[in-house]
Amino acid sequence: MSHQVILDCDPGHDDAVAMLLALGSPSIDLLGVTTVAGNQTLAKVTRNALSVLALSGHAGAGVGVYPGCARPLVRELAVAEDIHGESGLDGVELPVPTAAPRDEHAVDFIVRTVMKRPPGTVTLVPTGPLTNIALAVRREPRLAGRVREVVLMGGGYQRGNTTAVAEFNIRTDPEAAHIVVNEDWPVTMVGLDLTHQALATPAVEREIAGIGSPVSDFVVGLLGFFRQAYQRQQGFADPPVHDPCTIAYLLDPGVLTTRRAPLDVELRGELTAGMTVADLRGPEPENCRSQVAVCLDRERFWSLVVSALRAL
Ligand code: BDR
Ligand code: CA
Repeated sequence: MSHQVILDCDPGHDDAVAMLLALGSPSIDLLGVTTVAGNQTLAKVTRNALSVLALSGHAGAGVGVYPGCARPLVRELAVAEDIHGESGLDGVELPVPTAAPRDEHAVDFIVRTVMKRPPGTVTLVPTGPLTNIALAVRREPRLAGRVREVVLMGGGYQRGNTTAVAEFNIRTDPEAAHIVVNEDWPVTMVGLDLTHQALATPAVEREIAGIGSPVSDFVVGLLGFFRQAYQRQQGFADPPVHDPCTIAYLLDPGVLTTRRAPLDVELRGELTAGMTVADLRGPEPENCRSQVAVCLDRERFWSLVVSALRAL
């Protein structure tokens, strides 16, 4: 089955891998890439998205990049330069973009695209702060009934990374995340509980390097920088490649084990602002529109990534 996807991202090393996974997988129909300020400024992440599309060659031809919000809804932007570097994609030489950003705001593009397609066909995949997605559903409330699903990378039910309990994408724009998880649409939260299982081990890196193409060389360069940043900043031996876990779930739902759970986002806590709160008490609720990702089938995940990179 093929998935019509809008990828809303802030590339970002792992966002770039998510883009390449989508572009190299025939069953993902990438309708557009929308960008949002997060890992770096809007100008930088937009340029990075265009560079990744240029690198992907014909697979990316015709896929538009639509710049969105340059800052969170309420709070100041605090970029993740410590993890992603000054460009947002440090560690590689960025290919020169072969196209300009589209002249339509991300929010307008999302609304237009979802509303013109049959209900239940478009999946939104946010892998950055949720600013664009929140504005889109406020701008056009009927979006909630038309989107097939929101599969987001963000949050965590056990821990954070920007603070003890808040993950970067949610902590950057908690008000937007609050809107998104409280909307009446299906949400799958692929949080740190899951993505910390998606470690790019040396064996994974060797397999990608073995492909021996400009795309695989680019990914190896990204992973090298990402590894050092995660070692330095967060004490990881291998870097967690968060964002492509969302796309992998669409390609093969069996890659993730999920559990239904009511979800919310803490806005006011002095120590907990930006924390995602999943209610995991008692038996799994039947009529719950949100679920959290719990367990990753690492082998299946990396084999999807490697096949996509090989196909590009
Ligand atoms: C998330 O934050 C960003 O740094 C990554 O791109 C990922 O989306 C992980 O917390
Ligand atoms: Ca991201």
